[in-house]
Amino acid sequence: MRDGPRPRSTSAMAAPRPKALEAFARIRPYVPGKPLEEVAREYGITDAVKLASNENPLGPSPKAAAAIREGLTRLHRYPEGAAPLLVEKLSAHLNAPAEGIVLGNGSDELISMLTRVFLGPGDEAILPEPAFLMYDIMINCDGATPVPVPLTDYVIDLAAILDRITPRTRMIFLTSPNNPTGLALSRSSFEAFLDAVPEDVVVAMDEAYVEFARDPSAVNGLDYIDRGKPVAVLRTFSKAYGLAGLRIGYGVMPADMAALLNRIRPPFNTSIPAQLGAAAALDDAAFLEKTLRTVHSGLDHIAGVLAEMGVEHLPSQANFLFIKVSMAADAVFEALLREGVVVRSMTSYGYPDHIRVTAGTPSDNAKFLNALKKILS
Ligand SMILES: Cc1ncc(COP(=O)(O)O)c(C=O)c1O
Repeated sequence: MRDGPRPRSTSAMAAPRPKALEAFARIRPYVPGKPLEEVAREYGITDAVKLASNENPLGPSPKAAAAIREGLTRLHRYPEGAAPLLVEKLSAHLNAPAEGIVLGNGSDELISMLTRVFLGPGDEAILPEPAFLMYDIMINCDGATPVPVPLTDYVIDLAAILDRITPRTRMIFLTSPNNPTGLALSRSSFEAFLDAVPEDVVVAMDEAYVEFARDPSAVNGLDYIDRGKPVAVLRTFSKAYGLAGLRIGYGVMPADMAALLNRIRPPFNTSIPAQLGAAAALDDAAFLEKTLRTVHSGLDHIAGVLAEMGVEHLPSQANFLFIKVSMAADAVFEALLREGVVVRSMTSYGYPDHIRVTAGTPSDNAKFLNALKKILS
């Protein structure tokens, strides 16, 4: 309970006014994948599998879980805000200077730190459409104007993005591998793009799924941090490392950008368990390998069965598949839910006949494929 006089009743209070009313009215709220608890409550299904949020099907890294347990005795202390041990470990792991690494409460928080530092009213930020919704939310939140550029044939249209740059453009968001398509940008296309971007425009390269990419021509944003352009690469422990619930991600960028972000970073934004868990997960090479093996064989298996069924899908460099179901995606989502499989309808992403499904364990994948066969036949 906070200090100070309490209002007599909430109805007596004036309506709270967001700082930028019109921008807040434009914000489309982020709708997460349906939690299993909700499926149990609403449908009475208690053994559903969740393939809706691109989580790790194997659970958390066991080494991370052990490190978190050991850290519990220190919970009465504040964490070291800048997480120097984790930053050092990341620096060695990524072969990137420690001065350019900023930690966040999930990579979500890096997105909001970037927009807070670089965007304000009158500024424009370009983003693919559709894209991870947090870009649009945070651009609006900081009073800037989002400039969405539609995908062309499912691919982020770098040429069209370059065409939309104006003197007001301060940021460009890119995602590779992209969510929801799973497609990665190629190194050559990104290099040509970066050459053409003005030097004062921040390129935020979201690589939440980069660990899963198998295409050797896929771009790796870390190769472009020291090229004299303000590139920020965003990564996360939520996917390949199995720590979505722990909330920890990081950005890699030039040291001067990192210094700006660190000035506004909440002082204790990553918790002691998050720092310990992430550091241990980096050491858990066996878990990462097992995750990649499981996800890749899951993707290949699902893709093979879809091909046999004549169901189109995009080749994925991430841990999910973007599937054209050729009927109303919302209806397929509902029908799958009733069969105990939670996926994501792509209707709200502008693809009303596509679903996105995360690669799960072999039994999760079999349950999904059996249910999909039943529904589509
Ligand atoms: C493209 C993309 N970026 C960022 C995130 C957020 O990751 P985090 O859990 O690190 O906040 C997600 C999560 O789904 C994502 O798909």
